[in-house]
Amino acid sequence: MSVLLQISDTHFGTEQTLVMAALLRLASELQPSLVILSGDVTQRARRAQFDAARSFFDRIARQALIAIPGNHDIPLFNVIARMFHPYAGFERVFGPDLEPEWQDEQLMVLAVNTTRPSRHKDGEVSAEQIQRVSRRLATATREQLRIVVTHQPVHVLRDSETHNRLHGHREAIKAWSDAGADIIMGGHIHLPYIAPLHEDHADVHRRCWVVQAGTAVSSRIRARHPNSVNVISRADPKTVFAERWDYSAERDQFHRVNAHELNLDR
Ligand SMILES: [Fe+2]
Ligand SMILES: [Fe+2]
Repeated sequence: MSVLLQISDTHFGTEQTLVMAALLRLASELQPSLVILSGDVTQRARRAQFDAARSFFDRIARQALIAIPGNHDIPLFNVIARMFHPYAGFERVFGPDLEPEWQDEQLMVLAVNTTRPSRHKDGEVSAEQIQRVSRRLATATREQLRIVVTHQPVHVLRDSETHNRLHGHREAIKAWSDAGADIIMGGHIHLPYIAPLHEDHADVHRRCWVVQAGTAVSSRIRARHPNSVNVISRADPKTVFAERWDYSAERDQFHRVNAHELNLDR
């Protein structure tokens, strides 16, 4: 496997030109074989915002792109559109598959649409989605790194964030880790972190990590958390490196701030 680049919460409409240019430079250095876009692509699901996002991802994801919608990619004020065509804007630029998959010899990526037009910000994973992903994971080969992608997080580190977890997070973590997931990726809260689910959940019996991305290019950053992206690479069949790269305004570039070595359960 070469390099995977996770980009999240771009919130086009609030994008920052200098940060976008720096991210384009990083991507041209890393040459990721796959870009994973974990939702909140736009700020308000407007046509121009989706168009700007599409042209940016055409330049940044030269080889392959997997994208899912976030709660911001569903119209908020247009109630008719929200009820009857919630994903029309997203589908127009990223295609009709809201739960895309990517596979090659070394990688299986399964993306899940966790947005719900009826739930405003909250995300949900249904029993059917949990089972479908578990069945797909069970078909993975030993060589494949297995990644599940959601928008809202399955796991948070702060008590103040527990309300942002996906409805169904407990069942999803248990089922997907049992079925062989190595990484569950998310975004939504604009807080980047990597944490071992097998240490924080007593019913997780395989090594499985949550990898959360911050906001990549939006001005909607939180205090002490600049724009960031995650870079995943594989050192050998049992070892993966998950790195966080932050944007430094001083240097006008993304730079690596940490690297977690994940020893896969194989
Ligand atoms: Fe967001
Ligand atoms: Fe979100």
